[in-house]
Amino acid sequence: MSLANRSLVTIDDLSNGEIEALFSLADEMADSPNKQAVLCQGKIMASLFFEPSTRTRLSFETAMLRLGGQVITAVDVGATSLAKGESIADMAKVVGSYADLIVVRHPWEGAARVVADYAGVPVINAGDGSHEHPTQTLCDLYTIRKERQTIKGLRIALWGDLKHGRTVHSLIYALARFGATILFCSGSGLDMPEHVLRRLGTEYKGELKSCKELNYETEKSLFPLDAIYLTPSSPHQLAMLPDINVQVELKAGVDALYVTRLQKERQTSTVEEGKSEKSYPVVDKKLLKGKVFEKTLVMHPLPRVDELTHEMDADPRSMYFKQAAYGVPVRMALLAILLGAKEVTVDRDKDSFIREIDYPVYKRDSGVKCSNRNCVSNQETEVRYIKPEFRIVSRQLLTLRCIYCDHELYPHYVASSEWHEGRLENKRYHSADSRFARKIRPENLIIFASENEAQAKRFKPSSYVKQ
Ligand code: NCD
Repeated sequence: MSLANRSLVTIDDLSNGEIEALFSLADEMADSPNKQAVLCQGKIMASLFFEPSTRTRLSFETAMLRLGGQVITAVDVGATSLAKGESIADMAKVVGSYADLIVVRHPWEGAARVVADYAGVPVINAGDGSHEHPTQTLCDLYTIRKERQTIKGLRIALWGDLKHGRTVHSLIYALARFGATILFCSGSGLDMPEHVLRRLGTEYKGELKSCKELNYETEKSLFPLDAIYLTPSSPHQLAMLPDINVQVELKAGVDALYVTRLQKERQTSTVEEGKSEKSYPVVDKKLLKGKVFEKTLVMHPLPRVDELTHEMDADPRSMYFKQAAYGVPVRMALLAILLGAKEVTVDRDKDSFIREIDYPVYKRDSGVKCSNRNCVSNQETEVRYIKPEFRIVSRQLLTLRCIYCDHELYPHYVASSEWHEGRLENKRYHSADSRFARKIRPENLIIFASENEAQAKRFKPSSYVKQ
């Protein structure tokens, strides 16, 4: 089937079957890289990297050149019209009229979604702030699959800056979808964001257990574990016996340890940075001597700083340079598919991830704004184009998820656009968690950022407003 003209903004833009099909094509590309030299002849890829990059940009560019295509590049906001106050949307329209596909990296979360909305050609997210980095995840999964043949049932530990690292945010969803058990080992104050964990629980339906719940004492332990995510599909000892000692459970070993660096450039204060830096957990030979790591694949998206010692480089368990090298065949396969130069066979019957939840979208003009300061929808140059938009992911406790950056917010006041008998004096607002408010149909829902906003719009409090 053809996946031409699709964009890859988040890892969930590809189903499990599509990822498997892409990997088979990547195997083909790796086996005979020189046979692909005319596949994308005449096509142009624009590579827009507004944040530092070595591997991602160069492997994308190498991939396109190996496919016989050509590359145009901009690597510095300062050297583009964005520096003159041009919006990302305008830039996307223009670049989309020059190139057949755009690869973009940008410091604002959700920037790749905006480029995809406006470019008119396929767009690949090469990293948007702390949000996602789906092609790194493809390289990571490809590496694990090459070494272990499958991902299902593996225990994979994510290590380091889980708060700001975009690679782990894409990876975690993919691991959950492919049925891995995920172990969280974050640095102090660098835990996985709440919205990511919530989504794991609601959308991927696994079980998240904190180590406290599991009687796991980090001080006496093999490594600094905070929590475990168990997929729903695997009947698991831990799931059945919640009180079991994790220490015992972990004796079976960790299949992969995914190390990440402290994302210094994304820390919000120097105090925070100082604290995190001092206590940042290091992976070295001594740690990896533990029995639990005997057969562990040691992974890292790179660049590495001090969190993974160089003495590990010659160790056969170390995978990070392989991960980087796989970037070329994996990205060749992706480019060839999205440019329509190759079709793939996807076994839909075995395709275990096809999004089940189709949340209603909230896009009324209102005072409700994304709570993430780094979201593209909150940037001055972008607000002219970008209207905040949210998925309504829960009505129980009204929860809106920003469509650009996935951060969530919980507004307290709502109204229905079908006010009683259409009479203006009947315009009432209600507490979002009242029984009445939950009955309002999504298409009629009006959400307010505050009571002041509701009143400024001439709504009066109903008896369903908590005093
Ligand atoms: C990562 C990134 O840019 O998010 N690097 C990469 O693309 N391989 C990881 C990082 O910068 O720490």
